[in-house]
Amino acid sequence: MTGPLPAEVVVSAGARGPTRGLLRFLTCGSVDDGKSTLIGRLLYDSKLIHDDQLDALRRDSRRHGTTGDDMDLALLVDGLEAEREQGITIDVAYRFFSTPRRSFIVADTPGHEQYTRNMATGASNSEAAVILIDARKGVLTQTRRHSYICALLGIRHVALAVNKIDLADFSAERFHHIVGDYFGFAATLGFASVTPIPISARFGDNVAAPSARMSWYDGPTLLEYLETLDADHGLAGRPFRFPVQWVNRPDLDFRGYSGTVASGSIALGDRVAVAASGRESALARIVTADGDLRAASAGDAVTLVLADDLDIARGDVIARADARPEVVDQFAAHVLWMAEDPMLPGRSYLIRIGTKYVPARVTSLKHKVDVSTLEHIAAKTLALNEIGLCNLATATPVALDPYAENRATGAFILIDRFNNATAGAGMITFGLRRATNVHRQSLTIDRESRMRRNGHRPAILWFTGLSGSGKSTIANLVEKALHAQGAHTYLLDGDNVRQGLNRDLGFTDADRVENIRRVGEVARLFVDAGLIVLCSFISPFRAERRMVRELVGPGEFVEIFVDTPLEECIRRDPKGLYARARAGKITHFTGIDSPYEPPEDPELVIAARETTPEDGAQQVIAVLKAKQIIA
Ligand code: ADX
Repeated sequence: MTGPLPAEVVVSAGARGPTRGLLRFLTCGSVDDGKSTLIGRLLYDSKLIHDDQLDALRRDSRRHGTTGDDMDLALLVDGLEAEREQGITIDVAYRFFSTPRRSFIVADTPGHEQYTRNMATGASNSEAAVILIDARKGVLTQTRRHSYICALLGIRHVALAVNKIDLADFSAERFHHIVGDYFGFAATLGFASVTPIPISARFGDNVAAPSARMSWYDGPTLLEYLETLDADHGLAGRPFRFPVQWVNRPDLDFRGYSGTVASGSIALGDRVAVAASGRESALARIVTADGDLRAASAGDAVTLVLADDLDIARGDVIARADARPEVVDQFAAHVLWMAEDPMLPGRSYLIRIGTKYVPARVTSLKHKVDVSTLEHIAAKTLALNEIGLCNLATATPVALDPYAENRATGAFILIDRFNNATAGAGMITFGLRRATNVHRQSLTIDRESRMRRNGHRPAILWFTGLSGSGKSTIANLVEKALHAQGAHTYLLDGDNVRQGLNRDLGFTDADRVENIRRVGEVARLFVDAGLIVLCSFISPFRAERRMVRELVGPGEFVEIFVDTPLEECIRRDPKGLYARARAGKITHFTGIDSPYEPPEDPELVIAARETTPEDGAQQVIAVLKAKQIIA
């Protein structure tokens, strides 16, 4: 047998029911540390390998193994590593095994830095971690990185498996030295328990059976540790949280809220509250497919019926009235970036927290964390696999708890709004601003009255295109025409705004995102003031143009793509900037070494090479008339 074991191995012989619940754990380390051998050893010693697999293993060991005449247990699991080397993406390999005392799911993730996101996925589903150290090498950079990620993702129990102790002469001194090193570093990470165990995965010492060669060690074997660990992640003991998955309303007589209890427990008659609205009621029924319950707790999939008709929707969180989550629209969180495109502060992502989806932005990146040294590093963006402490803002308030208090309601993911991929994972440190304290000041002079006085509707005319495409020329002509008609207008232009409001910004992707975010906010204020505001910015990214579109009402954003081919812009080169960019004197120049994403569905495309600026301006005016922005 050369391939990997099947992901699920079902045990038969000898299993009397497990005495403890399922334990999910993660192994951290690389092939070099003996991770595959250790997992192979655990499976082998828990008698999970069938006879035919053993025969094949003996054959393969002689042929490919690295252990002489012994069986190379790593070959049992190394199929996966091989697939990884071939570039086949394996997020996390989960293996199931069980002993008479307990069942286990091991999350096996690759150890290298480029797999940090995979490791995080494995860790977020695990209650304990086995961190492998090579006894000859001691605590390494990657040991620190693995430990930090485990801590960040809420793993509370760690077995420090000091492996290959046979190659360190079974030395107690070496073991204690490594353990001392590790404790010095791990003290800051807040694990509930760290249990060091000297092992030899290859020979089985202290893996499933106690070693006869380390009389100085009287602690548990690794398997014993795993079998007896009390790893309750404590969700049942936390305050009651019920994220509503869907509103179950088959007919007018029944209205229930379906979902899974994320934490805590609840019983009939208990007072409950809807986190966001604060409205209260009493719990009238707990309905399941197998009949009603009197109480429900973490992990139960149920439908709750309340005594009163409250306005509750998917994404709401039902809590106990006397222990509610925070409801905030700003919070701080550690974010692990999982996308190829870097995280850009200011960009709008979709956040999923509990069952709720809402647009969210990183408002500031406080620092990124060097996961090997735990140093804080100033940064403007997060690249793939990097972790940073961020402030985030959501479009509407969300109910949440700090991750340290509740793993279920303190974690979230960020989703790329264009390709729907998971872009990041976050762990909330604390809420920053109670949403209930923030109110928009209501204004006495409203839009209607401004509109009546102005004689036209407000709008943002957004001109996007390459530098030198003719955006500003056309925008100027449009403004002149509007002004002549008595319209109230204002023109925001990249070159001008960058000399004042956005003087602090350059041309990195992150700065461009912030440039457009600020301009969008200003334009929104002008729209509130009743103006037709013309914005002329390269605005190279679809995401930010869409963000501005969403800032104003439907029909109030008119996207005009001034479509001049790059060669033509280079030929015109009105400011001599293309020549300088091509000579390498300006970097991050749009079209040269920085991207431009053309609009997919703009209100107007001006084919500017074939069109005079005057005709372009007329096309814009025609669109404004068709949309009844002007008469
Ligand atoms: S944007 O990309 O952030 O929307 P913006 O429209 O504000 O750009 O500014 C673009 C103008 O800045 C260009 O018309 C050009 O005059 C000038 N500029 C200077 N450096 C660059 C650069 N690296 N890339 C693009 N434009 C630049």
